[in-house]
Amino acid sequence: MKDILGVIVDTADFSMESYVEGIYRAYVEGRITYTDHYVPESGQMQFSNHISWEINGIHYEGGLSFTNTRPLFDGIRLALNHFKGDHLRFLELGPGAGNACYELHCLAKTMGIDTDIHTVSYTPVNPYMPLLRSGNDLLASLSSNPNLKIIERGPHGCSWYILDEDVFRMPYEEIGQIYGKLDEPFIHHQYIGYFPRNMDLPSGGFDIIYDMFGPLHRKDVGAVVDAYSRLSEKGMLFFVFHEGYEPGQIMLEGIKERLTPIFSKRDTVVIDTQNHSAIVAKEKNALALRFRKKFKSRFQTVAANDMINFLKWLQSDP
Ligand SMILES: C[S@@+](CC[C@H](N)C(=O)[O-])C[C@H]1O[C@@H](n2cnc3c(N)ncnc32)[C@H](O)[C@@H]1O
Repeated sequence: MKDILGVIVDTADFSMESYVEGIYRAYVEGRITYTDHYVPESGQMQFSNHISWEINGIHYEGGLSFTNTRPLFDGIRLALNHFKGDHLRFLELGPGAGNACYELHCLAKTMGIDTDIHTVSYTPVNPYMPLLRSGNDLLASLSSNPNLKIIERGPHGCSWYILDEDVFRMPYEEIGQIYGKLDEPFIHHQYIGYFPRNMDLPSGGFDIIYDMFGPLHRKDVGAVVDAYSRLSEKGMLFFVFHEGYEPGQIMLEGIKERLTPIFSKRDTVVIDTQNHSAIVAKEKNALALRFRKKFKSRFQTVAANDMINFLKWLQSDP
């Protein structure tokens, strides 16, 4: 079987053990940094516990779900156009099971963008064994598994959960549709611990920092400010915020004031009022340059009803 990059995938060894072995190999190669004294919320550190869940009073540890396998946000594809022929340093805060990073890795390869991908998370992923599908596609591949738990079906999709061990009990051909195998890691370096405290992260220079329901979706404004401080001078930060928490309130207040004071006045801040996501583009970022040219706005912060449409409009000519 071939994955989306045409790499031959060996379906002979898809097991929980080989998943954990890949994490260990990455650790030995210096590709994973564990923060000292770090104890995850769920208790003792486990190598593959992407998430832990309480369902009907039962605690589940280690699995895939609709909350940790989301695809890469489409707006990042648009932003990547500006990095063609360049080097891109990408940091994902809260990668979950790693789907967005793998998508980015594949996209950057097809677009000829030399990229190194870094992550910050509570738990590591095997960078040699990517999930080939995300979100609804992954759910479709898992649908024959009797241990798949559908928690709720709603108008915008369904919430589901499956233990890692139940995925790895599937027939090899079926697992080969779900996981791939790589010779080169798709994540360059993983930092494991509680962001932003006690993290041995590189001080700066990230061109894109991406957070989809990760550490920036919490109460800690310091986490947003810390992430922002690590951008390169042409960098951009994308994150989904929570309207009930302080960072979210600061962003929504920023729309009214047309200024979000935690960021420099010279930056461009675009806030999606429907989906509660934000892009903070530094002064020299290509999107910010385009924005100022096209919009001729004197304001730092603007509202967009829909971020994707906004980015498409921004990139359209003239
Ligand atoms: C709900 S999952 C989202 C995963 C993925 N972005 C997605 O949308 O499918 C939350 C992710 O953020 C990480 N995370 C949340 N808070 C964190 C913190 N304070 N420090 C480090 N990682 C954190 C978790 O380990 C996990 O990878």
